[in-house]
Amino acid sequence: MTERALHILVLHGPNLNLLGQREPGIYGATTLAEIDGRLEAHAAARGAALRIVQSNHEGVLIDAIHEAFSQEDGILINPAAYTHTSVALRDAIAAVGLPAVEVHLSNVHAREAFRHTSLTAPVCVGQISGFGWRSYLLGLDALIDYISSSQ
Ligand code: DQA
Repeated sequence: MTERALHILVLHGPNLNLLGQREPGIYGATTLAEIDGRLEAHAAARGAALRIVQSNHEGVLIDAIHEAFSQEDGILINPAAYTHTSVALRDAIAAVGLPAVEVHLSNVHAREAFRHTSLTAPVCVGQISGFGWRSYLLGLDALIDYISSSQ
């Protein structure tokens, strides 16, 4: 039996377009394009198709989540700074009801106190934090496994 490919929305929040040059001691030297390439390769190997969106604007991220409602099976999201501030992003994830996995390159729990709170994690299946660019691949695997096991 042929299984339908899983469709996953990958969302990168503000300032992640600067990865590679942005605070490399914290976020590493890998660029966002390199991360996206590794995600695409990993997704293809697991039979999943990705739609990847990066935006520095909260509303664009919210619109992408709304579009996922009818298009995707799950969401992999690094909300970046909006993790700690955005009730609107949290409500958008909750509204579409799709399984979401939150990822962070840095270990947000080992950093400033304001990064210890995530408004988005409670509406996600789980959070992966602190493994650099590998957080994304770990998150993608976790999301695919979660969706596959609940089908
Ligand atoms: C981040 C952690 C956030 O606290 C920060 O605002 C970011 C990146 C991470 O991937 O480690 O922009 O989400």
